[in-house]
Amino acid sequence: RSAGRLSEAALNRSLPPKKEQACRCQPLRAVQKTMAAAVEAPVLEAPAVDYKHSLLAGREDYDKMYKRSIEDPAGFWGDIAKGYHWEQQWEDDHHNHNFDVAAGRISTEFFKGGRTNIAYNCLDRHVQEGRGDVDCLLWEANDPGTDRRMTYSETLAEVCRLANWLRAQGIKKGDAVAIYMPMLCELPIAMLACARIGAVHSVIFAGFSPESIASRIQDCKARVVLAASAVKRGKKAIDLKSMVDKALDVSSKEGFEVKKCLVCHNASSGSGKEVTHMKDGRDVWWDTEIPSQKPESEVEWVHSEDPLFLLYTSGSTGKPKGVLHSTGGYMVMAGTTSRYVFDLQPGDVYWCTADCGWITGHTYLTYGPLLCGATNVVFEGTPTYPTPARSWQVVEKFKVKQYYTAPTLIRSLLGSGNEHVTAHDRSSLKILGTVGEPINPEAWKWYSEVVGEGKLPIVDTWWQTETGAHMITPLPGVFPAKPGSATLPFFGVAPAMVNEHGHEIQGPGEGYLCIKQAWPSTIRTIFGDHDRYETTYFAGFKGLYFSGDGCRRDEDGYYWITGRVDDVINVSGHRIGTAEVESALTLHPKCAEAAVVGYEHPIKGQGIYAYVSLREGEALDDALKKELVMTVRGNIGAFAAPDVVHWAPGLLKTRSGKIMRRVLRKIASKEESQLGDTSTLADPGVVDQLLSNRP
Ligand code: WT7
Repeated sequence: RSAGRLSEAALNRSLPPKKEQACRCQPLRAVQKTMAAAVEAPVLEAPAVDYKHSLLAGREDYDKMYKRSIEDPAGFWGDIAKGYHWEQQWEDDHHNHNFDVAAGRISTEFFKGGRTNIAYNCLDRHVQEGRGDVDCLLWEANDPGTDRRMTYSETLAEVCRLANWLRAQGIKKGDAVAIYMPMLCELPIAMLACARIGAVHSVIFAGFSPESIASRIQDCKARVVLAASAVKRGKKAIDLKSMVDKALDVSSKEGFEVKKCLVCHNASSGSGKEVTHMKDGRDVWWDTEIPSQKPESEVEWVHSEDPLFLLYTSGSTGKPKGVLHSTGGYMVMAGTTSRYVFDLQPGDVYWCTADCGWITGHTYLTYGPLLCGATNVVFEGTPTYPTPARSWQVVEKFKVKQYYTAPTLIRSLLGSGNEHVTAHDRSSLKILGTVGEPINPEAWKWYSEVVGEGKLPIVDTWWQTETGAHMITPLPGVFPAKPGSATLPFFGVAPAMVNEHGHEIQGPGEGYLCIKQAWPSTIRTIFGDHDRYETTYFAGFKGLYFSGDGCRRDEDGYYWITGRVDDVINVSGHRIGTAEVESALTLHPKCAEAAVVGYEHPIKGQGIYAYVSLREGEALDDALKKELVMTVRGNIGAFAAPDVVHWAPGLLKTRSGKIMRRVLRKIASKEESQLGDTSTLADPGVVDQLLSNRP
């Protein structure tokens, strides 16, 4: 065992009896290249930008508020929560948490005793305060020229209609509803309608395969599915309804019946209604069912700790986890981070390019901006269609003020000519944001200099599906940026950097990134598996939430996220578990075994590198490679398709049968000169074999 490794002994020391090992962490020294890039590359200087935050005068304000938020979280968040509507006030002693497995069940509570409704706070509150005529959703279709505007009043009416329909199907507080839709106004509307009646939504990104849809529907037992007929992404039309049909067939064969599927006809996909297959008795059209519903509906006042949504995400092992967020804390933190990090105020035109199928689209498209009363761009298409100028055309058209995107998108645009950017008026832009993976210096520089003309603050926001909201992030105009650093913790967030023994490192250094105490939007559980929740996040380091990321802290206390240290890869800002891709590959009859690792990819950040060993007598030709890739696409979704398939006569296992991923990672990154110690391999000859048959 190499010295730097998160040793099993260290893990066991902090483990309660009978819990399994938390994660298969990579040694800190092997942590991603981005780290090396951040440390070794000449540090970019951020241009001095002139931005006045509307709530904070400067660093002292932040320091004061931050201190209070850590020392008195109940008081700090209680004061902020007063800015929202609560039907019933929370108790004085409303917050407590336990992050220590040895002390009992892991739990977090905020605003205990309080009752509220997030959809009410997103919509009704603004309408009642006279902002009903403000634009709420600005939809831009895949093809330029088609758009739609909905005011807060109109959005509220549509949410109420759908809420009434859901109630008519027998959906009650606490029931799960699955949503499989592209980026239409109806997607955030569907989420808000569920929230309004206290139903728990589970949005499934409309790129997941029928198998993945089926397992998510069954895991949370959703009896109703909200879907759309089709979508066009760029030039490609995708029949979404047939994916749902297949998923519901699979479910049905496995004994779970979905009772109703409401289908939104997406005219912008170019196909008419007649091409969509509708099953009698089960499938109904949105435009025949919803318009006749009443545009008002009663609010279901839910308890602060009642569940709001489930969102499945990948981990190092096993099937995807249903991350569960509850209502009150999530609401307050989504709204507060949006307000402070994007300095978002009512009527600001804000654009987050994420899809509602991921956490960014939940917190920073649907909930956070609407809690702030902002005007939200909902974009159906892709940023490079019809040309790489599309993003800036949309910015110009809607006069976007805050723009939030991912490093992968920046990288995909920076090579295609600055004239696409400069040809468009971007004078409305005030804040640029990024999320999803560490941003490399080249992308940061282009974003800042070309898009922002050196005048705009960039907020590099670190957070996760599990954290629900921003955790480490710059506040524009409040402290100086350092390109590549997510800077300092948000209010209420207490990071701890620990070494492989779980000891906290003080001051500058490098370690595993943990969080010491609960923040309002802490993941409350993994749906249906609280044990897995405790094991995954809390068993590794005593008393701490473990993020799965590595980080460095510099002499100014700034955090530099270095990427995942577990077997999760980050492809274009999407989290993919290597174990999931491996099990999908082995579904192919000719594949005996598979091992998947990430490698550096110029656009996606990380690419998927699959080693496969085949059954006796099989050879890996191009046709079989294609079939293997198709198996993954069919089983998980296109975004999880391996970029490289490498035939591995043997899988580099240690004598105890464990795959040596460290070595596989080095071979995938063409760093075979640094393979390190391979003496524990069962058959060291495998290394040479792999090197000699590179694809
Ligand atoms: C993982 C979480 C949070 C919404 C999008 C992804 C990586 C996220 C940053 C950032 C460096 C980042 C981490 C994290 N990540 N933001 N600003 N700098 N890394 O959510 O799918 O839950 O993935 O994304 O590795 O653990 P997610």
